[in-house]
Amino acid sequence: MTLLPVVGVDRLTDDAVRVVFEVPSGERDVFRFVPGQHVTVRMELGGIEARRAYSLCAAPSGEGGAARLSIAVKELGPGGFGEIAASRLGVGDLVDVLAPAGRFVLQGGAEHVGIVAGSGVTPVLAMAEVALARGDRFTLIYGNRTAASVMFLEELADLKDRYAERLMVLHVLSREPREAPLLTGRIDAERLPELLAAASPGPDAHYYVCGPMAMVDMAKDVLAERGVSRAHVHFELFHAEDAPPPAAYAETAKVLADGDVAVTVTLGGRRTELAMSKDDDSVLAAVLKARPDTPYSCTGGVCGTCRAKLVEGDVAMAHDYALEPEEKAEGFVLACQSRPLTPAVELDFDA
Ligand code: FES
Repeated sequence: MTLLPVVGVDRLTDDAVRVVFEVPSGERDVFRFVPGQHVTVRMELGGIEARRAYSLCAAPSGEGGAARLSIAVKELGPGGFGEIAASRLGVGDLVDVLAPAGRFVLQGGAEHVGIVAGSGVTPVLAMAEVALARGDRFTLIYGNRTAASVMFLEELADLKDRYAERLMVLHVLSREPREAPLLTGRIDAERLPELLAAASPGPDAHYYVCGPMAMVDMAKDVLAERGVSRAHVHFELFHAEDAPPPAAYAETAKVLADGDVAVTVTLGGRRTELAMSKDDDSVLAAVLKARPDTPYSCTGGVCGTCRAKLVEGDVAMAHDYALEPEEKAEGFVLACQSRPLTPAVELDFDA
């Protein structure tokens, strides 16, 4: 547990605030991050431990690149961290924050395109800051409902002032007419090719897509049709929509019905052996009982925080919205979505 003091809370829009944490000098190695990564905030809500992942919305700054961490928090209803942050959190309060994680990060290369909706801008803003500072070109295609709901308008205007030649921002509003018809409506399969044509990125550009699942899937299809290499398309989902698990997942219930499954994990250089019973919803749930230090956040197969390499046995995942095809080919799985298909499984969280 690392309690970080809040050093700033300021309003971004009607329903979002920015929270800034100070990282004590002794903890800065732990909190060093790459633009695009997120932190997980841990708290008790209604007597139950809750975790929420928030992308870091400003470039690494200060001594060691991790003196301050900024996150943008949306109020998503009463009783959540968003509501607490907006109404009760103040300077000096301590919040339990886990180390930065995530592989949706700024790549090398000289040209980048962000395709984002709403708070999907958060990780991409940090990427743009760093990319522009190192001399790259950045295009941001940024969808919102109305001008009032646009997060980081000021920060984007500031970047535009500093890097007018290399930054293009296309604000697309779905519920407010803009002068150009191209910028009025949703970022969809008709409009995105036109927006990309307006930006005319070069053949080596990297694309960063962040938003709801339907938009991410649409953007991946559009980019594939344009011949963009899969390795240059990076994405992060807000949350996943419900989908039925694959048929193999049903087999895991039969394996667990035959008796406990032996689970071995390596985490932080330490091996732990434990038993998973049919009452454990996932390998992660079983592992947490023996190793509460196991990293996780969304428990929905979206954030990738619980990624581990399967080194023995087999598992089936209910959902997977986080792993890249290459990671799956290398044997990585999401512990929060996995249940065993064999009487023994071994996972390496350090891989
Ligand atoms: S905890 Fe988010 S994918 Fe498993």
